[in-house]
Amino acid sequence: MFKVKPLAPERLPELLRRMPKAELHIHIEGSLEPEMIFALAQRNGIAIPYSSVEELRRAYAFTNLQSFLDIYYAGASVLLKEQDFYDMARAYLLKAAADNVAHTELFFDPQTHTARGISMETVIHGLHRACVDAQADLGISASLIMCFLRHLSEEEAFETLEQALPFRDKIIGIGLDSGEVGNPPEKFARVFARCRELGFHLVAHAGEEGPPAYVWTALDVLKVERIDHGVQASKDAALMRRLAQDRIALTVCPLSNLKLCVFPDLASHNLRQLLDAGLAVTVNSDDPTYFGGYMNDNFTQTFAALDLNAQHAYQLARNSFEASFIDTSAKRRHIEQLDGFFESFQ
Ligand code: ADE
Ligand code: ZN
Repeated sequence: MFKVKPLAPERLPELLRRMPKAELHIHIEGSLEPEMIFALAQRNGIAIPYSSVEELRRAYAFTNLQSFLDIYYAGASVLLKEQDFYDMARAYLLKAAADNVAHTELFFDPQTHTARGISMETVIHGLHRACVDAQADLGISASLIMCFLRHLSEEEAFETLEQALPFRDKIIGIGLDSGEVGNPPEKFARVFARCRELGFHLVAHAGEEGPPAYVWTALDVLKVERIDHGVQASKDAALMRRLAQDRIALTVCPLSNLKLCVFPDLASHNLRQLLDAGLAVTVNSDDPTYFGGYMNDNFTQTFAALDLNAQHAYQLARNSFEASFIDTSAKRRHIEQLDGFFESFQ
């Protein structure tokens, strides 16, 4: 592993902001800024139950995952047209580029939209066009991961998969999100098996609020390649060994965990414990506008709270490229650029 030069602690925030990194856990609907929610509501003639941006922001006081999801699904109701999906993704990609994110894999929740009569084509075309443009004019690669909502049935997930198949060349992988407790991964065993046959990459949220058992079944029943969140794994020593041995990446989202009260404060977050145990941890923003920070906010605040150093920064950035779904030669190129950045950073 690349040995990072010693760095004065006051230079660390700049290093974190400027280092190239990949984001592997971002729900694109969770990047809708309150200002854009209001602008789209007006553009589309949709009523929202908040009188101002400030009132909406004040509602972002969550006590757990479900209290967030209720507001998150309401916010997404302003998205109607292909251009709305484009504008949302474009705004996120501009922020990501400013944070020196070189590659990003965007989750989207089609069922939130198809349930309102919006076509799969509208959703995917808008998001995909933003990804294509970002490569062309921001130099950032972006791909799409379609998530099934786990509070809905497996049958509905199958219908969603069917609707998405005409656009399969625009989707790199399949994920599982929404309310975790009571909706274990094995509820989606058959549809994930089908997605696997179809050649999609597979990920699932597990061990965010739910027990370590859900991480085990995400791995052994769904056969996912990465675990989204996974922070509850530290309660199960055998699971920690499995994750370390198999280099299963965890896409950890520290500010999300803080805002959803998974940990009482950032200093109590177990990211450092997971890293020290040899797990392939990555840092991500989850739903940046709702949780108060994009990638660099997550890095700088977590490093300050947990007293992490430049070697940790290198490890986290490297993990993010290694755990991504880009091809081997692109991975090698990103890691060479990362090494070059750390060598030349003064
Ligand atoms: N959908 C959007 N954000 C989520 C999260 N943090 N957990 C589960 N589902 C989500
Ligand atoms: Zn998430």
